[in-house]
Amino acid sequence: MNDSERTKTTVDRSRRNALKALGLSTAALAVPALLRSAPAVAKSADITMKAIPRTGEEVPAIGLGTHMAFDVKPGKPREHLREVMKIFYDGGGRVIDTSPLYGLAEVNIGDYATALGITRQLFIADKIWVTGEWLGDGSHAERQFWRSMERLWRDQIDLMQCHSLVNARTVVRVMQEWKKDGRIRYLGVTHHQPSYFGLIAPWVEKGALDFVQVRYSLATRVAEDRILPAAIDTGTAVMVNMPFEKARLFKIVKGRSLPDFASEIGCETWGQFFLKWIISHPAVTCAIPATTNPKHQADNIAALKGPLPDKEMRSRMLRHMQAMPGFDKVAKMPAYPGKTFDGVVKRGKRK
Ligand SMILES: NC(=O)c1ccc[n+]([C@@H]2O[C@H](COP(=O)([O-])OP(=O)(O)OC[C@H]3O[C@@H](n4cnc5c(N)ncnc54)[C@H](OP(=O)(O)O)[C@@H]3O)[C@@H](O)[C@H]2O)c1
Repeated sequence: MNDSERTKTTVDRSRRNALKALGLSTAALAVPALLRSAPAVAKSADITMKAIPRTGEEVPAIGLGTHMAFDVKPGKPREHLREVMKIFYDGGGRVIDTSPLYGLAEVNIGDYATALGITRQLFIADKIWVTGEWLGDGSHAERQFWRSMERLWRDQIDLMQCHSLVNARTVVRVMQEWKKDGRIRYLGVTHHQPSYFGLIAPWVEKGALDFVQVRYSLATRVAEDRILPAAIDTGTAVMVNMPFEKARLFKIVKGRSLPDFASEIGCETWGQFFLKWIISHPAVTCAIPATTNPKHQADNIAALKGPLPDKEMRSRMLRHMQAMPGFDKVAKMPAYPGKTFDGVVKRGKRK
């Protein structure tokens, strides 16, 4: 039995045991098209790849986020999501970040990845957001895990993260078991609010994680204090959420041309300017901008090409932004300026 067959057998056995423990039928095992992850990220000479420190495996430095953007209900127009995924994949993108908390995002990723025939090639970063019946109870995590696998049509998740540190002590322990079982390949924790970074930092400093996912952008640089240096020291990969501050950065630069020096680092748009600043930090493995717009996707994935800013250029880019009116108040602006969403998450918020 080779390594991949062994992993598959372990995964099937774990899955059967888990379903049994939950009193559920094993009929779901008969679903024929669930695909085990076989990350096959081809190294490309002309796109920015970053190594995951624990293993040396390389991933493209621009991924795809799916919060709100991919939460589109069946029956609503959603073909644009297929286009977004196709442009992402064709441009060299592989890492897709999602969560059971993002409404129908997992369902739409699973659907279009299957339609495009790229399910196995994606590096799926998913999350667990559950408590338990009692302290230390991992059964809810277990149930959520299998539901995500079925929505994504996968039998293995590349990276599983504890979402917003919810029930982190229990969930990280459970994820460690899953990693041993081969159900997941990497584990991590996430948060987007800098006020929680003091709680995340010790996890990174202890070297307890393969990945940490935090917010980091030209406007929100709190991660530079402890998390990014600790990630370098302990060999923890860093995934960056909210790279555009939920589109607020675009509002600040609306009507402004890029500075001339942007051409020195191959930036043709503000999106590329914001993304290249992030992925050029030595601790950063991957940024995960979200979009509903195929044109924006083409723009974002193009940030994988061309030179990255060095330390001096990064300071220059930051100084340029700091001179713009309103830049110091980005985090206080309403999220997603001018945009509306009509998915499951929005419905929940209305209630
Ligand atoms: N773990 C956590 O706690 C956490 C928290 C927040 C986010 N996340 C993850 O991080 C991902 C990214 O964060 P986010 O979605 O909150 O915000 P974001 O990526 O900072 O911003 C997304 C917004 O930017 C716009 N946009 C994207 N590309 C653009 C371009 N090239 N030009 C102009 N506008 C552009 C999008 O609008 P269009 O649709 O019009 O392009 C969208 O409204 C999430 O989707 C999620 O996967 C994780």
